[in-house]
Amino acid sequence: MKTGLYVGVLMMFFAMADVTQAADAEVGRGIADRWCAACHLTSDSNADSRVVRGTDAVPTLASIARDPNRSPNWLRQWLTFPHPPMPDLHLSHSEIDDVIAYLQGMTR
Ligand code: HEC
Repeated sequence: MKTGLYVGVLMMFFAMADVTQAADAEVGRGIADRWCAACHLTSDSNADSRVVRGTDAVPTLASIARDPNRSPNWLRQWLTFPHPPMPDLHLSHSEIDDVIAYLQGMTR
């Protein structure tokens, strides 16, 4: 009886710790679709789509994700401070981490 309660409390603790720590790539995908896709094509899996619909001035998120110079820290800086002509999107720290997790998932 007592052991069962203890295990239950312990599992709840781990479940909660999980929610607060992990940057969530799925959440990041939702943010990217909503806030980034208006200007950045999210994927260049069809390379021609960039030529047809995108513009040279705005790199695709997939190409940003693959760029070795665009480290998570670099992206965090970029997204934390405004960079005209890209508008300041006012993302929270956790939203930024989610977007970065999503971008990192694209390189695999
Ligand atoms: C209103 C249009 C617009 C939106 C919305 C937008 N961007 Fe941008 N973004 C730009 C433009 C334009 C540039 C190019 C700026 C430059 O090169 O000076 C850019 C550049 C970037 C760069 C730097 C690329 C590089 O390699 O130099 C990153 C990273 C980036 N955007 C990420 C994002 C993310 C993530 C989102 C969504 C959370 C987003 N952007 C939403 C227009 C936009």
